[in-house]
Order: sequence, then structure tokens, then C-alpha cells
Amino acid sequence: MNEYLDAAIGAAREAGKLLRENFGGPLKVNVEEAHDIKLELDVRSQDLITRLLLQRFPQHAILGEEGSAANASTEFEWVIDPIDGTVNYFYGIPHFCISIALRHKGEIIAGVIYDPMREELWHAERGGMAYLNEKAINVSTHRHVSEAVVSVGMSKTMIEVEVGLSIFHDMLTRARKCRLMGSAALDLAYVATGRFDAYIERSVNWWDIAAGVLLVNCAGGVLAISPSAVQEGKLSVVAWNGKIDRASLTKVYP
Ligand code: IPD
Ligand code: CA
Ligand code: CA
Repeated sequence: MNEYLDAAIGAAREAGKLLRENFGGPLKVNVEEAHDIKLELDVRSQDLITRLLLQRFPQHAILGEEGSAANASTEFEWVIDPIDGTVNYFYGIPHFCISIALRHKGEIIAGVIYDPMREELWHAERGGMAYLNEKAINVSTHRHVSEAVVSVGMSKTMIEVEVGLSIFHDMLTRARKCRLMGSAALDLAYVATGRFDAYIERSVNWWDIAAGVLLVNCAGGVLAISPSAVQEGKLSVVAWNGKIDRASLTKVYP
């Protein structure tokens, strides 16, 4: 295993320990909005991850949900979501994770997603396979949307919810089942593992998806990523097993 992956796994496990220890206990809310919550623990988790990564690679840049540190002199950038699924975490729903990816000259070269409650750790490095707890994984083999389980994300603002809802409504009528789980990174990890056949969300950030994008690619899946038409500056993502016809997954908002 390369030193980057090793560092990312170490940092994800440490942050996972922090999240496990605090799960179900009193939590300090930093920001509360109609459809979102941000915790002091989000910041603490990112601080921990950043400290561990920069200890080993002091020159590297950081792009994180809870803050970034640019560094014009490096081609390496860590992309971090210190808790993906904060609302689940806050409500005591054990479905959340830590997502850490490394980009080199803009290309994702390593990715780690860790679900500390189920002790599931995914990792991949560019050009290799994707692994769940050291076992190689592959995307599912379903060929038709009618046999597919599709996860749809709705992000956090009203406009994003409305767009997500129309996709959810459309997919409900055509897929076998739709799911709305509350963690974009785990949605992608589940596509890579063949648990979901596809994941669609029209408004995400790089820290939500960077590690998951690499996992899906390395597990044989396909992704369509483009600028979000819903929220400026964000991304639209469709990830699927590559066997289902893409048009049947993106009928409503192509
Ligand atoms: C959110 C979750 C959610 C997705 C949102 C994300 P957060 O991340 O991944 O599933 O629908 O788009 O912003 O705020 O829990 O890190
Ligand atoms: Ca996130
Ligand atoms: Ca987050």
C-alpha cells in the first residue's frame, strides 16, 4: 500500500474513533438551518484529520468542508469530508462516514471511506481495484432500471430538495426501489460494492464525492459529473454500474 493511502486510512480510523466515542452523547450545534445541521464535532473531526495528514505531508494543500488551506507550491490536495451524514449523526442514526481523497494535479489518486459504526472501510488507488475491508469489490450486474436499487440525494436547500424529489418520484415509478440514506459518500461506496445499482444527486461538493468517485471507477462503475444546474458552484453526479442504460437513469434532468 502506498504512503498516501496508509496516511488516509490512519486518519480516517482516528476520526472514526472520535465519532464513535461521541455518538449518542451531547453534541454542540454550530449552525442549524431548515434542512441542515452543522456540529462542532464536524470541525473537530476535520482538525484531527488535517493534523494527521499534514504531520506526514506538511506541504500538501487541504480542501475540506470545514475549511481549506491552499498551497500554490504543491500539486497534492487532500479532499476531506470529516462527517458525511451529519444530520444522521445528530439524530442518532448510525449511517455516516469519513471521506478522504487525495488529488494530484486535479486527478483523484487515492480514496478512503470509513463507516465507523459498521467497521466498514473502503479504499482504492488510481489504476487498482476497490476494496472493502481488504476484499476486492465490484459494481452490480443488473442491466435494467426495473431491477435496480437507486439512491437519490436531495442535499439541503429547498430548490435542491425540489429537484431531488422530482428525480426520486420518477425513479420510484421505474426502479425496483429508491433509497434516500443521507450520506453521499456512503451512497457511492454502496454503488462500488454492488449494494446500490445507481446513485443520483444534482447538487454536491467535491468533498462529498471525491473518494467515492475513485471507488466506483475502480470497482468497474461509471460516473457522469458536471456542473450543477441547481446550485452554482456545486456538482451534479450520476454514478452507476455501467450496465444500465444511462438515459434511463437521467430522464427527468438530463
Ligand atoms: C450531505 C450528505 C447528504 C447529501 C448532501 C451532502 P453532510 O453531506 O452527504 O446525503 O444529500 O448533498 O451535503 O452535510 O452530511 O456532510
Ligand atoms: Ca458531505
Ligand atoms: Ca460533512
